Amino acid sequence: MVEEHMKSSRRRFLGTGAAFAVGLAGGDPSPVSGDSRSFLENELPIKAESLSLRDRAIAKGLFFGAAVDAPILRADSRFRSAIEADCGMLVPGNALKWNWTQTVGGDHPPDFTLAESIYAYAKRHGLKMRGHTLVWHNSIPSWVGRALIDTPGFNSAASILVKHVNEFVSAWKGRLEHWDVVNEPLSSGKDFYWRDILGEQYIDLAFHAAKEADPKAKLVLNQDLLELDDSYQRTLRRRFLSLLERLLRRGVPVEAVGIEGHLFGHLGIDDRELDAFFGEIEGMGLEVLITELDVWDGGMRGDSATRDLNSASLVKRFLDVSLSHKNCIGILAWTLTDLHSWYHHTPDKWRRDGVPNRAGLLDENYLRKPIWYAVASAIDSAVMR
Ligand code: G3I
Repeated sequence: MVEEHMKSSRRRFLGTGAAFAVGLAGGDPSPVSGDSRSFLENELPIKAESLSLRDRAIAKGLFFGAAVDAPILRADSRFRSAIEADCGMLVPGNALKWNWTQTVGGDHPPDFTLAESIYAYAKRHGLKMRGHTLVWHNSIPSWVGRALIDTPGFNSAASILVKHVNEFVSAWKGRLEHWDVVNEPLSSGKDFYWRDILGEQYIDLAFHAAKEADPKAKLVLNQDLLELDDSYQRTLRRRFLSLLERLLRRGVPVEAVGIEGHLFGHLGIDDRELDAFFGEIEGMGLEVLITELDVWDGGMRGDSATRDLNSASLVKRFLDVSLSHKNCIGILAWTLTDLHSWYHHTPDKWRRDGVPNRAGLLDENYLRKPIWYAVASAIDSAVMR
């Protein structure tokens, strides 16, 4: 059944023959000519069609997984089949965020019902799970915001933060492979209480508390907008490397870096610069995880077949650079299927023509898209870990 599904998906794309000559900003993006058949066969060669992304990854000493939301996992059996077909690792897209665990206002023990349901599913299917995310300015419960105003000052903020990290990490001790301890520290978010009150020290406090609570979970610093060839992201890459240097110099137990990989289809990649960036991280002795891979096609021109091929090309280039570094240990898709895409409930990311974004590896009918082939091909050609 799954096999037939996959064959029809490949046939569908190999049969479209759509032209995809579209200019992209930045870098030297390909493809620039040809058709989908030759693109998939020549640019994205893969090993046996029947191999899952999980097994391709395992064969290279990597992992492959995806983000899941508990209600979708519960309600959609096709989503579960897609997870079981391709994934070896799950990450709750929302269920482990602080604000998602607050069923009553105020400082009460977190309610992990949603995350536990994902974990139970993962266990039943022999999948691993990682934690996302302990400290993020977009997931602060409202009672915390009020407490920080009512009892201002460094000590009160530090104690709320450390208690939270300790409570979450202790509750999941021994069950999660990694924790995204601090998420998007370089974001320009308005509600950045921790940075405003504690300065950069909030990162130190969070990592030390996490290490103490679960010495075995890999501790990750996760950041978006580090991949593409534009001036904002170029600056962010430099700032991110400086931040890492400062943290490591202070003995903060950062063990890995999460490069989110929310790619924008209308931007390109500067392979050499990206490679140098990965090289710097490798030189610091840190591992890298691609934590949230998908492609926003809202800024791209062309029909959906054209956009899909260009998105696939971008993913391939990004992953080829990433995986050429042996310290890159795995990939997680944030949008596994276009049917359940976070872009659908994010109005400021909607396409102007009203057509839904096609960010995922599978389409809305769970058929493999060129992005799936790009991931498969990049993993197949990765160096062995
Ligand atoms: O559950 C309600 C649903 O009942 C309602 O119909 C729907 C209508 O808007 O909203 C649903 O809740 C949404 C929820 O995602 C579940 O889909 C929230 O409004 C929405 O704010 C929430 O967005 C999440 C966002 O983080 C904010 O926490 C996205 O799912 C999630 O994919 C996104 O993930 C982040 C990573 O954590 C960090 N990196 C960037 C990434 C994308 O923004």
